[in-house]
Amino acid sequence: MSSGPRNTLNFLQPIPTLRRDGDAIAILDQTLLPFRSEIRRLASTPEVAEAIVSMRVRGAPLIGATAAFGVAIALATEGSDDTTLERALALLGATRPTAVNLHWALARMDAVLRPLAPAQRLAAAWREAEAITADDAATCAAIGSHGLPLLADVAAQRGRVRVMTHCNAGWLATCGAGTALAPVYAAHAHGIAVEVLVSETRPRNQGLLTAWELREAGVPHTLIADNAAGLLLARGEVDIVITGADRIAANGDTANKVGTLLKALAAREAGVPLYIAAPHSTLDFACADGTCIPIEDRGADELCVVRGICCDGEGDGRIAELRQAPAGTAVANPAFDVTPARLIGGIITERGIATPGELRGLYPEQAR
Ligand code: MRU
Repeated sequence: MSSGPRNTLNFLQPIPTLRRDGDAIAILDQTLLPFRSEIRRLASTPEVAEAIVSMRVRGAPLIGATAAFGVAIALATEGSDDTTLERALALLGATRPTAVNLHWALARMDAVLRPLAPAQRLAAAWREAEAITADDAATCAAIGSHGLPLLADVAAQRGRVRVMTHCNAGWLATCGAGTALAPVYAAHAHGIAVEVLVSETRPRNQGLLTAWELREAGVPHTLIADNAAGLLLARGEVDIVITGADRIAANGDTANKVGTLLKALAAREAGVPLYIAAPHSTLDFACADGTCIPIEDRGADELCVVRGICCDGEGDGRIAELRQAPAGTAVANPAFDVTPARLIGGIITERGIATPGELRGLYPEQAR
């Protein structure tokens, strides 16, 4: 266990993932990335819920902050009585089940707003949503600073450090620098030779978002097919695996994007350490172990339809969809898996790095 970050990561999001815009919010629409950067204004709670379900906003910390603003928008547009508050909490709470950050943020909004008189709730709701956003940015910076020595130590021994990651746990997934990528950005800022192996992350291809982020930031990286991870780990081409998390149970079992478990198993076989980077809002000590974590099942079209940018001459530059399996194909699409604590070398938090067994000691107030 460690505490007290050694270096502070100053990271400004190139495009804010989420910000208040009057009685609405402005989000960066991630369904159009990496092809187009487009800001979308969400002015009603159903619009916010749709953006979370369709993954216009995605990533555990970011959907938590977005849902918090969704509550404020409900009060601004529908009134501040108990019924409106409860309806907004229920609508937003039903959007995505696995990332506990969403449910944590809604519980925090409820705890602040419910005791207040209706006339006081609206201003308090905006304030609390802004506070959740600012906390997340600070948390990401601290995760980066705590993770930095891990990468610096490897680079000091080997001349460089090769990080494998999965999905997108960078700035796009948060209100700050990201979780798994925060130590990478910190290392890059400190002149450490860091390279990232980015797995595609079928079916939603969040790895393409990671590759886009790293390219924009000038961090050396290589995109790989998900299925190449085992070979690269076995060949000794990876020094450390770092991923984010959507929910961490009391014993350290960790839910993250589906495919994380296969990387964890291959990493253990190859003797490569696996670290999870996550903030306090991802911890769920009410879940004793991974068997209690709800796993989101998503629609068949995520596997059957591929999306990309036309490069056939005529439609060049247009975002298009292609069906690769007939409609009606039987599909199973679990969006997350659970990596058992025994495969996890450490959890990089804003309070320091803990083994899964030490995690409760690092957060005694949440463990109660
Ligand atoms: O389905 P997504 O894209 O929201 O899933 C995101 C992930 O699994 C991330 O790894 C996780 O939320 C950590 S984000 C800092």
